[in-house]
Amino acid sequence: MKRCFAYNRITFLALLIVFSTLVSACAGKPVPITPATPVPVTEAPTAVPTEAPTPVPTPEPTPSPYELTSPVYDETKLAPFMLVNFEHECRCIGDAETQLVELHGNTPASLLLTNNDHRLNSEAVPALSAFADAFYAETGGDRLLVTSSYRTREYQQDLYNEYVQNYGEEYARMYVADPGASEHHTGLAVDLSTKNKAGERVALINHEKFAWVTEHCSDYGFILRYPVGTESITHVAYEPWHFRYLGKELAKAVTAMDMTYEEFCEHIRQYTVESCMLYLSKDLCCPDVAYIENLPEEGYLFYYAPAGGPVPVVRGADETVSADNAGGFIIAVKIG
Ligand code: DAL
Ligand code: ZN
Repeated sequence: MKRCFAYNRITFLALLIVFSTLVSACAGKPVPITPATPVPVTEAPTAVPTEAPTPVPTPEPTPSPYELTSPVYDETKLAPFMLVNFEHECRCIGDAETQLVELHGNTPASLLLTNNDHRLNSEAVPALSAFADAFYAETGGDRLLVTSSYRTREYQQDLYNEYVQNYGEEYARMYVADPGASEHHTGLAVDLSTKNKAGERVALINHEKFAWVTEHCSDYGFILRYPVGTESITHVAYEPWHFRYLGKELAKAVTAMDMTYEEFCEHIRQYTVESCMLYLSKDLCCPDVAYIENLPEEGYLFYYAPAGGPVPVVRGADETVSADNAGGFIIAVKIG
């Protein structure tokens, strides 16, 4: 039995050792933490990516289709579109004289001269030469003949006196402008007759190609300045020989409007950049109106601006700004 005891003692000791071992083995071990019931974490809302705002481009200011200029209005300086007549004297005679070219030696054989002293404005000379060449070609050899060109005031006075003496004052007043009021003072007016192939002088109005001349003179920049039936407007009798050089563009405009230059200079006053402008097609025909904010791609514009204020001109276009000798500017613009 002792053994049992003894067995018991041994077993007890063994158990004790095991227990002690277990206790010491467990001593210092972290007490496992019962995991807390997970608290659902409220997720931070997924950030919706905010689109970067598309930058709105700062609009470039639309450039105005025209710009303002400040030409000097000076009636003592010759300008190509000047009106010279009974109420608008030519105050630019001296300046016009500085721009003259002698016709003798500077014009083709198709243009004849009654003397070697004829002079015209330097721009009118090549235009008249081309006109004479065309007449020569059209007629098969007839020539234009220059009978009068630039005149000084003294010349005009002498001419007037001569007409009074020979034909009386009433007649003189019909055909000869007052000294100082003749277009011939500008160097931009020319009187024409013809000589046929036989060398005979034939007045232009009696020439079989007179209609061709009046129809085509504007092709070369000229207008018949005193047409039949316009005496009450021009204060000059019908002169089927007196031509005024205006340059092709304006000559075409005046012809297309079927007006005397007096009427045209009055009519053009209603056309401005701010309202509407007179428009001719690129072929210089078919008068119409054009607006600055909606310009045709090509063609010609004609309008008016009073002196003393800014003169608008179309950006990037070729323009001629001319004093009109009546208090304003006539502007011709080529667009396209
Ligand atoms: N024969 C024109 C009118 C002049 O004398 O100018
Ligand atoms: Zn004349």
